[in-house]
Amino acid sequence: MINQYINENKDRFINELLDMLRIPSVSADPKFKQDVLGTAEFVKQRLVDAGADHVELVETAGYPVVYGEKMVSPDLPTVIVYGHYDVQPADPYELWSSPPFEPVIKDGNIYARGACDDKGQMYMHVKAFETMVRTGTLACNVKFMIEGEEEVGSANLATFVKENKERLKGDVILISDTGMLGNDTPSITTGLRGMSYVEVEVTGPNRDLHSGLYGGAVANPINILCQMIASLHDENNHITIPGFYDNVDELSQEERAEMARAPFDLEKYKKSLDLKDVHGEAGYVTMERNSIRPTLDVNGIWGGYTGEGAKTVIPSKAFAKISMRLVPHQTSEEITEKFRKHFESIAPASVSVVVKPHHGGEPVVTPTDSVAYKAASKAYEETFGVKPIPVRSGGSIPIVSMFKSELGLDSVLMGFGLDSDAIHSPNEHFGVFNYMKGIETIPLFYKHYAEMSK
Ligand code: BES
Ligand code: MN
Ligand code: MN
Repeated sequence: MINQYINENKDRFINELLDMLRIPSVSADPKFKQDVLGTAEFVKQRLVDAGADHVELVETAGYPVVYGEKMVSPDLPTVIVYGHYDVQPADPYELWSSPPFEPVIKDGNIYARGACDDKGQMYMHVKAFETMVRTGTLACNVKFMIEGEEEVGSANLATFVKENKERLKGDVILISDTGMLGNDTPSITTGLRGMSYVEVEVTGPNRDLHSGLYGGAVANPINILCQMIASLHDENNHITIPGFYDNVDELSQEERAEMARAPFDLEKYKKSLDLKDVHGEAGYVTMERNSIRPTLDVNGIWGGYTGEGAKTVIPSKAFAKISMRLVPHQTSEEITEKFRKHFESIAPASVSVVVKPHHGGEPVVTPTDSVAYKAASKAYEETFGVKPIPVRSGGSIPIVSMFKSELGLDSVLMGFGLDSDAIHSPNEHFGVFNYMKGIETIPLFYKHYAEMSK
């Protein structure tokens, strides 16, 4: 009955997603404010249409949280669905094959900013919910909490969570905002890295200088910044910040052997990225480097003259944005502080340095022996025909650790995206197969979760 309803409504389910993808809900850029608000309104309306009660836009200091619920019975477990309706900026637009906010379906994929992260994946839950309501199969109570600031650090959702503990009483958090290994190797994400994000500013002379008259005699802040950044990794690609690894949870050989059982083809990986070789911390393989190990990356670096032609100048200032991905049991506060101290200490007297902390987030590992994990595993196994593999991801969803610390709830990360979906990149896409598989798999989670919770 569920599958029949999904099949009969497939075209509408897809078209509704395309409608949402047309609204450019870029939370990072104030120019899109009306569109971000419009997307919140869109999600609210669709939740009402799908049969949710008490649907409202809860105001925050930033973009609203869309809340809605369906309480079937106090005897049933309550699933809290989290997702986000905001998207990353689409720049650079010229690298897109079709405009980022004019979705098209090509070769079985929906192309648009947010197609996978997270509009497509979030909307699977709205359509799965509609399906369960219309077919009279909703097996759990549901509460939706869809935010509009995930891509900018979820600061206001953190406040919402702290202030709404009563409203957010439930048994588990259900999230589709991650990926899986492949369409024939489903996996469930069991960990997310944390994040410490900083911006650095290096100042040399008090004004831009003629590089002939002053070059060689005063510090060039761009040269210095590059030297400082280069020194943050040693020849083994270990991070050199004192104490950086102090609290890192080292995996046992057994755990690493278990991880190595997940299929991974290094040649294919290199080929997919047009790389002759990979790069990373000595002593760890690629799948470890991007999940269980902490990292430090420059996300952007600027300063001086980058316009047409040549300008001979020693700039007064140079800047960089640097992110560090964290693993248990590092904390963002600890690492931000260690970074700041170290970065200031390595600056030569010829420049001054300011380190500005941005948003942070804590790492999480979710249990695989919980009822919720087992229910999710069973659901995937039924729709994909094979048992999903637990995999720790390298990405971050900062609010997940707060769900645990503030609400005492574990999350189940039922992602249906693929690494090749190009989230945050030009030509982001989401498979129609994945979207529909999600809508099919989610109701099975509810069913098994309710049965197994008895
Ligand atoms: N959905 C992603 C995170 C993700 C993607 C986790 C794929 C695992 C697999 C989320 O929207 C995201 O992009 N998070 C940011 C952090 C945020 C603070 C900007 C990230 O990981 O960079
Ligand atoms: Mn996301
Ligand atoms: Mn994202």
